Amino acid sequence: MYPAGDTDSTVPTPGLISFALAFPVSYNCWMDRTDTPNRQSRPDRTIVLVGLMGAGKSTVGHRLATRLGLPFTDADTEIEEAAGLEIAEIFERFGEAYFRDGERRVIARLLKGPPHVLATGGGAFMDSETRALLRQNALTIWLRADLEVLAERCSRRNNRPLLADGNLEDTLRKLIEVRYPVYAEADIVVDSSDEPHEAIVDSILERLRERPAASGTEPSGADANR
Ligand code: S3P
Repeated sequence: MYPAGDTDSTVPTPGLISFALAFPVSYNCWMDRTDTPNRQSRPDRTIVLVGLMGAGKSTVGHRLATRLGLPFTDADTEIEEAAGLEIAEIFERFGEAYFRDGERRVIARLLKGPPHVLATGGGAFMDSETRALLRQNALTIWLRADLEVLAERCSRRNNRPLLADGNLEDTLRKLIEVRYPVYAEADIVVDSSDEPHEAIVDSILERLRERPAASGTEPSGADANR
């Protein structure tokens, strides 16, 4: 499992704890730069994208980072790299609670690094400890998408453990019910519709510019784009 060389798959060794501590943030994926980044829109803290599976967190996050001239990190990728396992396999072998524990630790570590754009898995902001960590140390942006958009995007990839069983739309509908009131605690809410991702990035940049001194230092509660 997480520490390489664990041969007994039924007994997770210190696991996520040690992987989060042992693996440094990989800065090698933090490469995107533009010659004319929107520096004035950059907050002084990490920008974290939250939202349901299929909301476009990774794609939009990557483009946003490029536009801001900031590094980009995907929390799920970091977890997979540290664990040496794909997320579906972590869920299957060790369960969701174990995954959440590791997710929290990896995100805590990432937040200690320099400001960047961080895409989180859809459940990260639902964990109260992770949420508190994010609210305290980052500027959070909820990419809000409606059921149809999510269902269409999620139907293209079937490697998400929470969507593996049952009817895709029913599952997403239930997740929307439970999660949207919590995602609403993010500092900024931006709609992620069917429009090109670059347009969503434009909306985010606009929202960042509107913030006082574009500093992100007063991120308490969602603002008014709803
Ligand atoms: C999850 C979302 C996934 C991944 C895991 C759990 C969730 O990430 O972290 O499968 O609980 O919503 P994406 O939102 O990037 O698909």
